[in-house]
Amino acid sequence: MAHRPRVFVSRRIPEDGLSLIMAAADAAVWPDELPPPRDELLRAIQGVDGVLTLLTDRVDAEFFDRAGPQLKVVSNYAVGFDNIVVPEATRRGVPVGNTPGVLTDTTADLAFALLMAAGRRVVEGDRYVHDGHWKTWGPLLLLGTDVYGSTLGIVGFGRIGQALARRAAGFGMTVLFHDVMDPPADAVRSLNAHRVELDELFEQSDFVSLHTNLTAETRHLVNAERLRRMKPTSVLVNTSRGPVVDQKALYRALREGWIMAAAADVTDPEPMPMDEPLLTLPNFVVVPHIASASRATRGKMAQMAAENLLAGVRGERLPTPVNPEVYEKG
Ligand code: DGY
Repeated sequence: MAHRPRVFVSRRIPEDGLSLIMAAADAAVWPDELPPPRDELLRAIQGVDGVLTLLTDRVDAEFFDRAGPQLKVVSNYAVGFDNIVVPEATRRGVPVGNTPGVLTDTTADLAFALLMAAGRRVVEGDRYVHDGHWKTWGPLLLLGTDVYGSTLGIVGFGRIGQALARRAAGFGMTVLFHDVMDPPADAVRSLNAHRVELDELFEQSDFVSLHTNLTAETRHLVNAERLRRMKPTSVLVNTSRGPVVDQKALYRALREGWIMAAAADVTDPEPMPMDEPLLTLPNFVVVPHIASASRATRGKMAQMAAENLLAGVRGERLPTPVNPEVYEKG
């Protein structure tokens, strides 16, 4: 019988991907809801041919040392890969895969849902009713910021940022964007989006939505200085990565009325500790990193992550490598 590759899958993923892995490899799957503790992870990956990781698993020099030189692939079940020290993987000739494309629209849907929820105070309203405060129709009750016809500033105009701009078009919003890369000119034209400097984006926008990768440059990109530039009626939405926002500064901004509200799918750290001051504020909406969490999309992500994993253990090129340069090395 042909050698079956050994792989470790660091959490149960949807059957769409898990069944592919089980059919082709000897797979150990971490069974718990919580991630494997670091020592368990390092033990489980020893001697395997491939690892399917989640964004909660740190993949660094120690990880590669403990896995061993036979490791052929790390497949991340996410489009983001800031949990992985990619240059370390590349240096060791290990391709790393991610899941781009399939979660773009699902993530943009949630960003827009958060934008509307925070702008129109949906969560506050819901609590108001549940807590028995609703006594009458009130001319000044829970006044928010209009979404239609407003200005949306998108920081990071990649796939998800552009998908958000498509949604904004239906609400007659003016779209500003900032990106360090040059997005395709036809996308910018067809979305009627206007490129501006970062500070101008924060000053002009009624809604600012974050769609950048987490890098040394974007860590705390939203700091006190930028929050102070925003309008007092404006709303900040973060579905990128928690550390892009300085949460201490955000707390002051929300408490002292520099901005009206904020909504986050991602926090720093995750999970957000229950003693985090932001959780005491009614104008802060938070959900537990669920932007890609539709049944269909998580299934597609599982399939894509499985395909990357299996291609890697077979020594084939990954369908979606984040470090294609690994194939250029002699
Ligand atoms: C990602 O894919 O990077 C998201 O944060 C989780 O789907």
